[in-house]
Parts: sequence; structure tokens; C-alpha cells
Amino acid sequence: TRSIRPLVAGNWKMNGLKADLAIATEVARGYDAALKAAVDLAICPPATLLFPASAALIGSRIATGGQDCSVQPSGAFTGEVSAAMLADAGAAFCIVGHSERRTLHGEGNATVRAKAEAARKALLVPIICVGETREEREAGKALAVVRKQLKGSVPEGLDAASLVIAYEPVWAIGTGLTPTADDVAEMHASIRWDLARIVGKAAAAGVRLLYGGSVKPSNAAELMNVANVDGALVGGASLKAEEFLAIARACA
Ligand code: G3P
Repeated sequence: TRSIRPLVAGNWKMNGLKADLAIATEVARGYDAALKAAVDLAICPPATLLFPASAALIGSRIATGGQDCSVQPSGAFTGEVSAAMLADAGAAFCIVGHSERRTLHGEGNATVRAKAEAARKALLVPIICVGETREEREAGKALAVVRKQLKGSVPEGLDAASLVIAYEPVWAIGTGLTPTADDVAEMHASIRWDLARIVGKAAAAGVRLLYGGSVKPSNAAELMNVANVDGALVGGASLKAEEFLAIARACA
């Protein structure tokens, strides 16, 4: 039995045209009473689909989220999307600090923290991503790397309902590789411990800690049953309604 209600969030990344809203409606059809009783779902489509996806999901109890937001509230920042715009388009969540943003767009911890704060100002719940590279894990530095990312990118003073952390080992993203259950358990326990120093013990005890990186129906049950794993952040498998729902069922 879980003490924290799990969350399974789909990160569509740069995938999805209008026709793919059918994935979201199919997920909604499969989100039956038993699943609703057990697990929260969120879909993070590309920004262009956030408004129609949110509209299509009204009444489904499935939330939507952005994949990134600007650190700025508004103004002359061509190409950027503000947290308020995401909220206005129906989002409840916003992923920040995904490894693809950290790596491909050079976002450091300070930027990720500023984005998490911008998300909170717009009343979005930030899903702050952390995770080590393969080299860092092999060097025995995984826990220390993630500790530093948490210290640098998680704002102080958030309560449990206003924050989600996603542990995504970089080497597990889109590769089919996953850490062992023991490694996930060790990391998630360490994250909860570290979070207590940032947001306080009571809040840290209730923050949802998602695992992300090659989660699929075949490995979901094992990963979702690890202590301190309160759900999943799903990439590739979130683009298939049946797979996404199967992962959700593994949390129930
Ligand atoms: O944010 C989720 C993601 O990075 C994991 O991607 O495709 O390995 O599930 P994937």
C-alpha cells in the first residue's frame, strides 16, 4: 500500500500533431474507475497542442503540463513560452530541467530553479528533473551529482503538493536501459533525504518522486514497486495509449 498517491506523467517531447490528440482521448477512455481511484495521470504534449489537449481532457481528471517554460513572465523574448501562458492553456504541471534541456540548451541548476519558481508563480506544479550521466554513475558519483542538482534547482519553501521530482538517469533515457531496482531504491531514498534539507522534512515526506528513463509496460511493475518511487515520467511509451495505461496500472 502506498502512502503517496502516485502520478504517471507522459512527456511527448517534440512529437505530436493535431491528429495525435486521439492518443490523449484514448488514454481518457481507458482511465477507468479503478485507475482513477489509484493513480493521477498527466500528459505533457508540445506547447502547440496544450490548449486542445486540455480541452479534450476536460472532465477526464487527466491533467496536462508543459515541457519547459521561460524564466521570464512576459516581454520581448521571441520564441519563449511563459508559465502563465501554459497555465492559461490549461496546464497544471510544467516539466523543468529535463536532461534534454540541460544538455542541448545548456540549462544549469540556477536556470532550472528560476524556471521552477516561474512555474510556481503561475500556480503550475514544477516537475523538476535530475539525473546522472553514465560516466558519473560509473565513477560512483551518481548520488553526489543528483544531490548537487537538487540543491541548485529546487526552490526552498515548497509544500508537498507544489513540487514533483523526476529522477531520470541520462543514460536510461530513450535507450531501453534501466537501473536496477536496488539502484533506484538507493537514489530515491537519497533524494527524499536531500529534499528534507531543502523543503523541510514534512514536505519532503509527501513529495512525489517519479522515476523516468525507458519505462515501459514490461518493466513498470518492477520499477513502480521500488520504495520511494511514486510514479513515472514516461517518454516514448506515452505516445501509445495502451502502453501508457499499462504503466499507470502498474502503479495501482
Ligand atoms: O521525460 C521522460 C523521458 O526522458 C524518458 O524517455 O523515452 O526513455 O521513456 P523514455
